Amino acid sequence: MPEQFTLLDINEQSLTTLKKLFKLLELENYIYKIEKADATQWEVPRDKPIDIFISETMQRALRKEPQVAICMNIVPQLPEHAVMIPEQIILSAALINVSKRMQEKLDNILEPNSVFELDTIYTLNKEEILKNSSLHRQNNGGSYLFPKKVVSIPTEIIDDYPTLHILTDIHIYKEERLLIDESQLTMPIKIAELKQDRPSEITFQYRTGEMPEVQFSFEKILV
Ligand SMILES: C[S@@+](CC[C@H](N)C(=O)[O-])C[C@H]1O[C@@H](n2cnc3c(N)ncnc32)[C@H](O)[C@@H]1O
Repeated sequence: MPEQFTLLDINEQSLTTLKKLFKLLELENYIYKIEKADATQWEVPRDKPIDIFISETMQRALRKEPQVAICMNIVPQLPEHAVMIPEQIILSAALINVSKRMQEKLDNILEPNSVFELDTIYTLNKEEILKNSSLHRQNNGGSYLFPKKVVSIPTEIIDDYPTLHILTDIHIYKEERLLIDESQLTMPIKIAELKQDRPSEITFQYRTGEMPEVQFSFEKILV
């Protein structure tokens, strides 16, 4: 008997397609169970411990889809040795010169300098999930509010790098990584123009819920 998978999806149509695909690829022997379930609430059966947990329910910057809420539910139920795939997702803030970046791409520049990385704003891995799972659950609606992260902005570079973006770094497993622009999920996402307000620091906070996203705020400076 090969290693077997329990396959979850909340959407009937996705499950129908999934079954067709497994049949077509003659992979049915690998299925332990297919279940229609909300993975943010699903309970791991006690008699069938899980060794590998794979989830791909995300968009870039971990917006809109429930990747984080699913991990926050499943990981604390897994044995310590269990592997989570992707192993780690890091969101970081960056200032970008968009037109320069476009030109660098057209010219196939190998060492581009149109992206000025600021700092990490959120990390999703087993360690962070276990650290945060009991601490930050809100009572209303069961969403998670993660610790705030304040990032300093060197204001003198805003003229050269005027737009604030979130970068998504996906570490799938061991050496397998999705780097910037290697997929739709790892393309930078623009969240603000900073030329007018020129903030010297920005506060970021990731939250799950109906519309998961990184929220951010900064003081407007009047001159
Ligand atoms: C981005 S798609 C990716 C599907 C698959 N990984 C693939 O590459 O084809 C996300 C899938 O997650 C399912 N989904 C979204 N929220 C879910 C939830 N809370 N529980 C279980 N499945 C969910 C959607 O129905 C959809 O089929």
